[in-house]
Amino acid sequence: MAETRDTITIVDNRTGKQIELPIRHGTEGPGAVEIGAFTKAFGLFALDPGFVSTASCESKITYIDGEEGVLLYRGYPIEQLAEKSSYTEVCYLLLNGELPTREQLGEFTHTIRHHTMLHEQMGRFFQGFRRDAHPMAILVGCVGALSAFYHDHLDIHDPHDRMITAHRLIAKMPTLAAACYKYSIGQPIVYPDNRLDYAANFLRMMFSVPCEDYQVDPVQSRALDVIFTLHADHEQNASASTVRLAGSSLANPYACISAGISALWGPAHGGANEAVLRMLAEIGRAERIPEFVERAKSKTDPFRLMGFGHRVYKNFDPRAKIIRGMCHEVLRQLHHSDPLFDIATKLEEVALHDDYFIEKKLYPNVDFYSGIILKAIGIPVNMFTVIFAMARTVGWIAQWIEMIAEPGQKIGRPRQLYAGHPAREYIPVERRG
Ligand code: SDX
Repeated sequence: MAETRDTITIVDNRTGKQIELPIRHGTEGPGAVEIGAFTKAFGLFALDPGFVSTASCESKITYIDGEEGVLLYRGYPIEQLAEKSSYTEVCYLLLNGELPTREQLGEFTHTIRHHTMLHEQMGRFFQGFRRDAHPMAILVGCVGALSAFYHDHLDIHDPHDRMITAHRLIAKMPTLAAACYKYSIGQPIVYPDNRLDYAANFLRMMFSVPCEDYQVDPVQSRALDVIFTLHADHEQNASASTVRLAGSSLANPYACISAGISALWGPAHGGANEAVLRMLAEIGRAERIPEFVERAKSKTDPFRLMGFGHRVYKNFDPRAKIIRGMCHEVLRQLHHSDPLFDIATKLEEVALHDDYFIEKKLYPNVDFYSGIILKAIGIPVNMFTVIFAMARTVGWIAQWIEMIAEPGQKIGRPRQLYAGHPAREYIPVERRG
């Protein structure tokens, strides 16, 4: 546990009463004031809509420095992991806290590859959806339903059960995601091929058909693997916080991950990658960029530049920088040019020179460029957030394990500032106006 060595004094100016609250310091970044004694001392709540200034937990998994644009997974810089590691190795790192030895990586890879299949009856779930159902709606339902198939290992207080659940979720998400896509286009669901690595297996399940051979494109596979790594975790974002809150009630982990997928779906969060592509298509040509930038600045227009801004990053999102660099390389290697990429780079240039965006420190975030690469790989726009959910599953389940395993873990139950009616008497309908 982080140490507490100094305090902060809070004075209630109404009564002169004061208390000293301990400040807990971590290993990186700001310390945190433990305000547990605050309400007891003053009879007041701390109000922080959107949790802008609130640390909900102590965690050892991911560190972000928003001012410097730093992202570390278990202390390793995202730039080094994206360049030198693999998503499977990053999953091991996030779950276990250390990079694996060669033997550990081999064992982990074998375990993940041998949990990729779905229970045959899962296939019937898809039949209940319309073909044009959004794949995120199907994914939310199917992941929540996974708990119905795994009563054998659902003791959340058993470390072994927690880890096998993590392995099952990481392994089955690509199979589920690809099945959502295949169902939506009326093609047969493709079984995983355990000889392939994570990203290659997913591409094959997405794009192969029974009537012909399918060769995984190594450029596509590598690009997708890096995108998975970049999306693996991001400390206490909205969906990770949702998973933690759901988990704090001791709900089963599949239900908690399903809740996380729901939270991620919003366009303010993981749904932004799909919204960026639709926005770029709506802009259509560089000449219209100023019109959209003005709309994004308008107080009366709800339009926002999708893929711009971040609660924590007030500098470049390091993931956006990596993906932007990849775009050039991937489009070149795939002999693919995309006018939307040209619009995106022009839009970034215009926005980053605009006083509004400079003053509010609005930079491109991870979602701004990721869709360009996914589109170049052939992934349909309505599958973009599904890809994000697949990649983030390891982060969610690592955060869930950390929360459940924490000594003294409590149910999350925030309070409120009540601004409604004081108590009043019921009026029978015949006496109402
Ligand atoms: C992700 O939290 C994470 O870590 C998330 C994530 C992860 O890996 O889990 O990084 C993934 O969700 C990335 C964010 C994807 N969302 C978008 O790209 C949607 C567009 N961006 C926003 O709506 C917004 O920037 C948020 C939601 C990302 C952050 O919102 P905040 O922190 O609550 O900031 P805010 O809404 O209070 O905005 C501050 C100001 C406001 O203006 P004022 O009221 O102060 O005058 O900046 C403006 C906003 O209007 N603003 C924007 C803007 N984003 C913020 N104006 C125009 N376009 C935008 N994109």
